Amino acid sequence: MMHGDRRWIGIAALLLVGGCPSKPGEKGNGGSAGPAPSAATIKVGEYGSLTGATATFGVSTRDGVELARKELNAAGGVLGKQLEVIVYDDQGKQQEAATAVTKLITQDKVMAVLGEVASSLSLAAGPIAQRHGVPMISPSSTNPKVTEVGDMIFRVCFLDPFQGEVMAKFAWNTLKAKKVAIFKDQANAYSVGLAEFFEKTFTKLGGKVVAQQAYSAGDNDFKSQLTNIRGASPEAIFVPGYYTEVGLIARQAKAVGLKVPLLGGDGWDSSKLTEIGGDAIDGSYFSNHYSVENQEPHVQKFIAAYDAAYKAKPDGLAALGYDAMMILADAIKRAGSDDSRKVRDALAATKGFRGVTGLITIDENRNAKKSAVVLKIQATGFKYQETIAAD
Ligand code: PHE
Repeated sequence: MMHGDRRWIGIAALLLVGGCPSKPGEKGNGGSAGPAPSAATIKVGEYGSLTGATATFGVSTRDGVELARKELNAAGGVLGKQLEVIVYDDQGKQQEAATAVTKLITQDKVMAVLGEVASSLSLAAGPIAQRHGVPMISPSSTNPKVTEVGDMIFRVCFLDPFQGEVMAKFAWNTLKAKKVAIFKDQANAYSVGLAEFFEKTFTKLGGKVVAQQAYSAGDNDFKSQLTNIRGASPEAIFVPGYYTEVGLIARQAKAVGLKVPLLGGDGWDSSKLTEIGGDAIDGSYFSNHYSVENQEPHVQKFIAAYDAAYKAKPDGLAALGYDAMMILADAIKRAGSDDSRKVRDALAATKGFRGVTGLITIDENRNAKKSAVVLKIQATGFKYQETIAAD
């Protein structure tokens, strides 16, 4: 894992001129990932975990945003101006997230902010964007509280009450599980919320939660909790966490003799999940925002362009990052201005935007209502199982 650079500024442009990102502690003015900064550019900020235990979240999102930025600029930019994206690494830490957003707004003077992925980090930095009157679009934070911070905060993904319902219905209807265990990250707003929403639907359907256990991000020994879970004989285990711990949990579940599938949410979405979990994670299922198997032409076009740029298939984060940038550009066009307040109003009026993660309509609470997909983990990759429509 990389822990070195605290901040990555305008990687594309710097690489073109042979430079490199700022080093920790260096005082930078913020660079640009486009042409040289001038009044003729529209400055957008982005913050995410480019390093740390959730590094693929930030890296994939940045890559998705960057692909959208390049496509928009190649097509003439927005309102005749080129888009510039300034990216800071928050290392997956709340304090760093708050610092990043403060810098983006007060020093770099961005007109809007994209981020974060993790709900707890969007919750840590959202109030800063709100206070400064700068719109923030979270591509992928699913906890309900994220947009409750205020009228400047938007998201382009579904919410956890829906996601929890999706996996509870999948466990009950498709897997025919009657007894499940829940193993959550107790210090993570996303994990705690999703566990609660899953339980609510699963018990309403008639199912029983036979064991509840907790861990904390950064733990690496889960055996005692898993042994307790084994004692309750569940038919599936819901683990609403992030990929690093989930991969380790899968291995240790197998080691203590648990043979039932693990179930999870979007926090599993990382190529690292199978690297860490190995074959112990095969046969498990998680809900997600999109599938690479979606055959719609505009989705396949995005996948091909991403693959050409990064030599990899985009995960859900990359797809949501791409959509967040595109939605912002669309709002700037409709506002006819890059003024933060006017763009906020245009964002709030977004209707039926055709994103690569589905149709996006922003509702009165600045949320998007979208369908979810369930994916099965196989040695060959994530296999599409079913789509569950937004209710
Ligand atoms: N939804 C997660 C959260 O709110 C973040 C996430 C989204 C992680 C998509 C992976 C993929 O914390």
